[in-house]
Amino acid sequence: MSGQQKDFSSWLGERAQHIETVLDGFLPEASMQPARLHEAMRYAVLGGGKRVRAALVYAAGEASAASGGALSPAQNIALDHAAAAVELIHAYSLVHDDLPCMDDDALRRGRPTVHVRFDEATAMLAGDALQPLAFELLSQMPIAPALIVQATEVLARAAGSLGMAGGQAIDCASVGMVLTREQLQTMHSLKTGALLQASVLLGGIVAGASSTTRAGLESYAQTVGLAFQVADDILDVTADTSTLGKTAGKDAADSKPTYVSLLGLDGSRELLHALRDEAHAALLSLGAAGGRLLEVADFIVKRDR
Ligand code: IPE
Ligand code: IPE
Ligand code: MG
Ligand code: MG
Ligand code: MG
Repeated sequence: MSGQQKDFSSWLGERAQHIETVLDGFLPEASMQPARLHEAMRYAVLGGGKRVRAALVYAAGEASAASGGALSPAQNIALDHAAAAVELIHAYSLVHDDLPCMDDDALRRGRPTVHVRFDEATAMLAGDALQPLAFELLSQMPIAPALIVQATEVLARAAGSLGMAGGQAIDCASVGMVLTREQLQTMHSLKTGALLQASVLLGGIVAGASSTTRAGLESYAQTVGLAFQVADDILDVTADTSTLGKTAGKDAADSKPTYVSLLGLDGSRELLHALRDEAHAALLSLGAAGGRLLEVADFIVKRDR
């Protein structure tokens, strides 16, 4: 049975298991010196997470394979590197997001956060070390050097001050404030949307997407990137801590401006559904090849954690 025919939850489960093995292989062994740092890096990355960003890399890769054909073995290896790279950047962003100087969270993926399980300096350094490892993996992709350069630029921008780190800076500066809808959208699109967007674009770059496909991917990616954080804001209010694996109700407790604080729950859900429809529309130009991406968009909207 081909990947496209598998039902979505089996496909996602299989991809999640696969990226776990890939990440395990790329991370330094916990016994390697400095052992405490390596142990913390592995703790931050392995054994949890929905792996949505990796799934987006693979789904965009599948969608971009030339005229619906199969990807080459080298392209599949490169997709593994790209998927691992985005999960490493994401894991680093979570470790730093949870630090006392940021959201000060003690629970992540159902376990004590890295600074609680280890210590603050180790958590900071684990994040510091996960980030360059991501770029090392991109540099080792067995594809044309020009594509490696493009992929590197995409991930670097998404992680930097005009992407995730910039969005996190706005988040920190916005505590206790009421943001306009435009400001909130900018913050969310940067702190969370940028990395999801990069995941989609990386899949397209590695698989050699045509310019038409790339245009469709870009508009899809922008929409699902924002939708992901809208859903995160909603779940912070509606889900419980044990389901989430992180402390529920944290946004209101910390006076964070969110879509729920701005639009209410109903308004936020309405927006989420509108974004899902937009994501579907963006995939029209991809035809049947966009099927898996469509399912990922639905998952992002319907998820319960
Ligand atoms: C949580 O991301 C942080 C946000 C950017 C909203 P995820 O919900 O993808 O976290 P994991 O990887 O599944 O733990
Ligand atoms: C996180 O946003 C964005 C990141 C870049 C990590 P949140 O602070 O809402 O994420 P959670 O709810 O702690 O996972
Ligand atoms: Mg935060
Ligand atoms: Mg947080
Ligand atoms: Mg949140």
